[in-house]
Amino acid sequence: MPHFLDIHKTDPAALRAMIDAALAMKAARGDRPRGAPDDTLPLSGRMVALIFEKPSTRTRVSFDVGVRQMGGETMVLSGREMQLGHGETIADTARVMSRYVDLIMIRTYEEATLLEMAEHATVPVINGLTNRTHPCQIMADVMTYEEHRGPIAGRRAVWSGDGNNVFASWAHAAAQFGFDLTFTGPEPLDPEREWLDFAAAKGRPITIERDPEKAVAGADVVITDTWVSMHDPESARERRHNQLRPYQVNEHLMSLAKPDALFMHCLPAHRNDEATSGVMDGPHSVIWDEAENRLHAQKAILRWCLGV
Ligand code: CP
Ligand code: NVA
Repeated sequence: MPHFLDIHKTDPAALRAMIDAALAMKAARGDRPRGAPDDTLPLSGRMVALIFEKPSTRTRVSFDVGVRQMGGETMVLSGREMQLGHGETIADTARVMSRYVDLIMIRTYEEATLLEMAEHATVPVINGLTNRTHPCQIMADVMTYEEHRGPIAGRRAVWSGDGNNVFASWAHAAAQFGFDLTFTGPEPLDPEREWLDFAAAKGRPITIERDPEKAVAGADVVITDTWVSMHDPESARERRHNQLRPYQVNEHLMSLAKPDALFMHCLPAHRNDEATSGVMDGPHSVIWDEAENRLHAQKAILRWCLGV
């Protein structure tokens, strides 16, 4: 079953083909209205369930619009409203949903929920973010990099901040697309060992550099994310802010990267915490393109999953 569960679990040639398809589909749409259908409607007659156990703006709207542009239908469900939130097992939910819909996208907390859904579903399952990874986002980010600067292979990406779920998918992408990735952040918030080991085993060891100024020197792209993720306890907020403040991406830090470096953030952002408004709205920033490209990248992922 062609699930899209994670970047490190997907064949690099398939990932490459998805990025190329996404770029082509974006170009083919030109500037037609958002609600207008694509020229071809590969999802015609298909029903897609979008399940959210956490809040979402981009993932929710971009999947919904993307499916419709390709001629399909969607239903957006919140985990709380489903029996899923009231004791029915994930496995049973997967079996039942597979009798109604052609594909399931789920945003959840525990990775185990996603994996159990995929194991028992008889339709493809897409990971719309878990506590551990966010693969759809980084597919859009790779697309965005290449749209602006050409092939990402061999480039130098630098992550400044929390070694979180979004970083994890960047680590997977570094290995699968062949670019260098440096992590700069406080040791207690280092990325999971498993992701560092994966990248190293693929010949793309991740550099850890505690000094953010040294880390960003020569960077082609500087990336950050929120200091407190949706799964992080509120009680950790103050400690995290104190630990992460030195890793804020501000105009000074950006000036140490390459002159044509890009700035990326998956959003939602907390302006003037992890990145200053000057950087977010400044000349290096491609954050709105990243957000738009969720739509195009996910359309390519949906087509790959459904083989259409
Ligand atoms: N970047 C991202 O996944 O945004 P949402 O949480 O709004 O879906
Ligand atoms: N790291 C963030 C990403 C949100 C899209 C979170 O998990 O909340």
